[in-house]
Amino acid sequence: MSNPIPTHVAIIMDGNGRWANQRRLPRLAGHREGANAVQRTIEAAQALGIKFLTLYAFSTENWSRPQDEIDGLMDLLCKTLDTYTDQAHKKNYRLLVSGSREKLPPTVLEKIDKALQATANHTGLTVNLALNYGARQEIVHAVNTLLAQGKKAISMDDISAHLYQPAVPDPELIIRTSGEERLSNFLLWQAAYSEFYFSPVLWPDFNAQELQKALDAYAQRTRRFGGV
Ligand code: IPE
Ligand code: IPE
Ligand code: MG
Repeated sequence: MSNPIPTHVAIIMDGNGRWANQRRLPRLAGHREGANAVQRTIEAAQALGIKFLTLYAFSTENWSRPQDEIDGLMDLLCKTLDTYTDQAHKKNYRLLVSGSREKLPPTVLEKIDKALQATANHTGLTVNLALNYGARQEIVHAVNTLLAQGKKAISMDDISAHLYQPAVPDPELIIRTSGEERLSNFLLWQAAYSEFYFSPVLWPDFNAQELQKALDAYAQRTRRFGGV
């Protein structure tokens, strides 16, 4: 028996810089092409019947990059959010954003709020954008929220209920592109029983076919959850 299609797929979209380097282009050209891959992947996920797609777009550690790359990424993000909001109306996508608002430029926050509001009642694919996201920070945030409520003892359910997106189920499948095989501070709590799929493909080259490959691999995994 193969596993059914996952409800939630999460992707670490890596390799934009290397894609650009291979072509002797500036890193930002890789990020631009990466934004096109995001578009393709969202459409493919919706067509496949995936309900939740988490996309790791910017980590809390990515602030350590050169300022011009950060500025370029934030600018691209604003443009992508506009396109996304237009698309979302036609295709019924909903947007969620996971991460901290701290340090994000006001222009980005405005676009995010607009997109969140405009798509809140959509019932199709939920795209959860992990932006200025760090999993350790997310867990600490959950614990601090619970402490502020006066909790003396904290259960696993308490933590799950106070993560950034408590209504989003844990991902059955986590994909990372570009050949790197690490989590880089992504979904540490939620990944406890996720299946991992590492693809050598650089993110700007990712497409429906590559997503299908990951799903095919996932379908063949034996998920035991500690049992026999
Ligand atoms: C992923 O691509 C995008 C972000 C982290 C913003 P990278 O920019 O990390 O690309 P590489 O890893 O340098 O190739
Ligand atoms: C992880 O990629 C973050 C995103 C894809 C947004 P990085 O390129 O930042 O990860 P490391 O530094 O190689 O671990
Ligand atoms: Mg990288």
